Amino acid sequence: MDETTRMLQKYNKPVLLALRKMPTTTVPLWLMRQAGRHLPEYRKIRSSTNNFLDFCYNPELASEVTLQPVTRYGVDAAILFSDILVIPHALGQDVSFVSGKGPILKPITNIIDVKKLNIKHIDTKLKNIYKTVSTVKQAIDDKFKTTTLIGFAGSPWTVATYIVEGGSSKDYMGVKSWCYSSPKEFSVLIDILIEATVEYLIQQINHGVEVIQLFDSWAGILSEDQFTKWVIKPTKTIVDKIKKRCPNIPIIGFPRAAGVLYKNFVVETGVDCISIDQSVPIEWAATHLQSECTVQGNLDNLSLLIGSKTTDNEVLKILNGLSKGPFIFNLGHGILPNTPIENVNRLVKLVKGFKIEKKSNYTI
Ligand code: CP3
Repeated sequence: MDETTRMLQKYNKPVLLALRKMPTTTVPLWLMRQAGRHLPEYRKIRSSTNNFLDFCYNPELASEVTLQPVTRYGVDAAILFSDILVIPHALGQDVSFVSGKGPILKPITNIIDVKKLNIKHIDTKLKNIYKTVSTVKQAIDDKFKTTTLIGFAGSPWTVATYIVEGGSSKDYMGVKSWCYSSPKEFSVLIDILIEATVEYLIQQINHGVEVIQLFDSWAGILSEDQFTKWVIKPTKTIVDKIKKRCPNIPIIGFPRAAGVLYKNFVVETGVDCISIDQSVPIEWAATHLQSECTVQGNLDNLSLLIGSKTTDNEVLKILNGLSKGPFIFNLGHGILPNTPIENVNRLVKLVKGFKIEKKSNYTI
């Protein structure tokens, strides 16, 4: 047993153990977007600041809300409270969040504007986020010893969709037209995002995050060839660069709605864990994905919002199908703002109370 393994077992961090394909006594659990509007304690603190980015850049408030779901539910991981759009903001793009409308960016649709993005000052602009990481890590080391701290970034493709479309989009006409018609130009934008993302993640790691998750929420809108170009390749570059500098930090990939392309993504990028959405059949995931890496997922966030007997059955199906191998329970996409607290409590109880059968798919 090496030193890292001994440390992991001593501190018994279930999420880290699962990411290293080691057995756990209970199924590790956290929920995407767990810190946010479904929590009354979040809404209370959030109301003290008008501007959402100012809120993300306030280490005191951001570290407090990062820990809220850990305190309330006892989930096994805290995810840094920030947003994927701090990267375009740090690169110099105008970004704001309008209540009821979501993010609004000044669209960048040509190479001249791409070349105005400036990577030089990102660490200065993001320094308060690094401070949040250090503050949360200290609190975890002091008070929540079994909790894993997850850092994150948006993947270049998904961040590019917001940069080009100027916000959320129905059809992604602008960004898809660009990558089909001028792939060389578009790759200049992707390369800037790769560089900025690697720097941002390395700094998060230096300040205390123990795991990285890459959110590629809009991966599922691309054809196979475009998926390879704009999702798999940039992710592989990021994974390679981070592994070279920080070989012990596990990386979770989340190319949402990728269907059968999840398999290509896992094999080609070298991620340690794949986060899957609810459209992936459990048995297929156990056979084709869990054989390669840890799987995370995949309860429908809408099922959790409803919280009926059907939800319990879906949870049990996921647990029965995936808990024999390296597995972290999560949702298929972020928790919805109207989700009742009691539904989350019920879910946590069900997952934590689940008896794991004899393991067959572990490496040790
Ligand atoms: O617990 C956590 O996960 C909190 C940290 C977090 C946020 N956003 C906070 C947030 C994380 C990991 C994200 C990721 C994120 N942000 C993604 C990828 C994951 C996904 O859900 O697909 C995306 C696409 C974004 C971009 C974004 N940020 C949108 C489209 C919106 C508006 C929609 C919405 O949910 O309100 C945001 C705002 C945002 N980011 C909020 C929170 C808590 C709500 C803003 C508020 O409180 O006023």
